[in-house]
Amino acid sequence: MTVPKLALTENTESALAKTRADVVVIGTLQGEDGPVLAAGAAVADAAFDGKLAGVLATLGASGKAEEVVKLPTLGKLSAGVVLAVGLGKAGKDGSVTAEQVRRAAGAAGRALAGTEKAVVTLSAIDLQASVEGTALGAYAFTEYRSEPGDAPVAKVDFTSPEDGAARDHKATLKAATAIAEAVIIARDLINTPPNDLFPASFADRAKKLAEANGLEFEVLDEKALKRKGFGGILGVGGGSARQPRLLRLAYKPAKAGAKKVALVGKGITFDSGGISIKPAAGMDHMTSDMSGAAGVLASVVLAAKLKYPLEVVAHIPLAENLPSGTSYRPGDVLSMYGGKTVEVLNTDAEGRLVLADAIVRAGEENPDYLIETSTLTGAQVVALGNRTAGVMGSDEFRDRVAAAAQATGEGGWAMPLPEELRAELDSRLADLANITGQRWGGMLAAGVFLREFVPEGLAWAHVDIAGPSFNTGGPWGYTPKGGTGVPVRTIAAVLADIAANG
Ligand code: BES
Ligand code: MN
Ligand code: ZN
Repeated sequence: MTVPKLALTENTESALAKTRADVVVIGTLQGEDGPVLAAGAAVADAAFDGKLAGVLATLGASGKAEEVVKLPTLGKLSAGVVLAVGLGKAGKDGSVTAEQVRRAAGAAGRALAGTEKAVVTLSAIDLQASVEGTALGAYAFTEYRSEPGDAPVAKVDFTSPEDGAARDHKATLKAATAIAEAVIIARDLINTPPNDLFPASFADRAKKLAEANGLEFEVLDEKALKRKGFGGILGVGGGSARQPRLLRLAYKPAKAGAKKVALVGKGITFDSGGISIKPAAGMDHMTSDMSGAAGVLASVVLAAKLKYPLEVVAHIPLAENLPSGTSYRPGDVLSMYGGKTVEVLNTDAEGRLVLADAIVRAGEENPDYLIETSTLTGAQVVALGNRTAGVMGSDEFRDRVAAAAQATGEGGWAMPLPEELRAELDSRLADLANITGQRWGGMLAAGVFLREFVPEGLAWAHVDIAGPSFNTGGPWGYTPKGGTGVPVRTIAAVLADIAANG
C-alpha cells in the first residue's frame, strides 16, 4: 500500500472551508472533569460557539488515549464531521509527548477508513508525529482479499503549526512522509505470504526498489554463495526448493568522506524450524521471520530518499528454513563465510547462522557502524514482551540505539552479553555451537554467538524484534495487525543521529 496524499494547510476557518474535507480531526486531553480541547481545535470549537468540549462530554468523551468520538457539524463547518481523538493526560507542565500525538493520530487514521479527505489539526502540537501516526494508522493490507472493504483515507491535510517557518514545515512533512513510506514498505513485505515471498522473489522486489531509488544492487544466488563459501546461508536454506540469496544494496551520498553504516537484517522467508521442527500451533507467525530483512531494505531506501550524508549498505541474507531430504541436520558442522566452523545442535536456531555470514561480509567493507536486526529469539518476547525490542551489542552504540528506539516510540531496551555464556557455546568438535545446553538467557546467548562474527572494535548493535515486528493482537495506536515495520523508525533515528553527530 502507499501513504495517503499528504499536504499542509492553514488552521483558519477560510482555509478549512477551502480544503473541502469530509472530516476534521481534533485532539482532546483527559482533564480532571472531562475532555479538554487540545491545541489546533480552536477553529472547530469556534464553529460550535466555544461549546465543543461540553458537547463531547455530553457524548461520553473523556479524552483518554485513542478514544474516538465523531459528531456531525450540521453545517457549522465545511466538513460534515468532527472526529475527536483522545491524547490521554497531559504532563504536569501541560505538555504532550510525540508518542501521545502519534498514537492519537494513528487511532484517527484507522477511524478515517472509508473517508475521502480529512484535515488533521494535531499537527498544531507536533507535525512530524501527526503525519507519521496518521499515515501509519491508515495502513491496510488488502492485497489478498477479493473484497477490500473500506478504503484507507485518500487525502489528508495537516494544519501548519503556528510557530516556525513554512519552509521547515514543508521539510518536516517530506521527511515524515518518507519515514511512513519506509515503514509501509517493510509492512507490505512482512504481510506478503511465503508462497509469494521467498528468497528469489524478495530479491526481485529489492532490485526494483534499488533501481527506483538509485541504489547499488547485488544478488548472490545459490551458486555464487557456494563459490564464495557462505556455509551458514546455504545450510539453513538447503531444505527448501526455493534456494537462498544474499543481497547487497548501497546508498552513497554525493559528498566523499561520509561515515559508513552497515545494516544487516535476517530474511528467513518462512521458519518451520527445519528438522528441529516447531509445534504446529502458531507456526504461521513465522511468515514474519523476514522482518529484519524488510526493515533494513526499507531503511536503505529511506536513506536514499532523504539523502542522508552517510554511506548506508544493507546486507540481506534470505533463506527458507524447511525440513526435507536436503535439509541441514542437528549434528552438521557448517563452514561459515570467513572460515569459522559451527556445529548445528538445533536447526531452529537458524537466524544467527544466516546473520553470521552476512555480518562477516558486512565487516569486510570496514564500516564505522553495524546495525543488525532480526526476529532472533522467542526469549526476547519472554524477557521484554511484545512491544519492547532487545538491543545488544558494543556498550556505547547499543545504548545509543536503545535510546533511539525509545525516542521513536518503537521501544527498545539495552541487554547485556554476559561473558560466561560464551563457554556455553563451546562445541565438541567445531569452533562453536549454535545453541547453549540450556534455555536461560536465550536472547543473550544468541547475541554472544553473533558477537563472534563482528570485527573487533566495531560499534555494533543488534535489535531483536521477535515480539515487536509482528502484531498478533488487535490494532492499537498507529500499529495494525500483522507486520508493524519495527525497527525502521529506530534505524532512521540512529542514521539521523550519526549524520548529525558522527
Ligand atoms: N524465528 C525464531 C524466533 C522467534 C520466535 C521469532 C517467536 C518471533 C517469534 C528463531 O529462529 C527461533 O526459532 N529461535 C529459537 C532458538 C532456540 C532454538 C535456541 C527460539 O527462540 O526458540
Ligand atoms: Mn528458528
Ligand atoms: Zn527464525
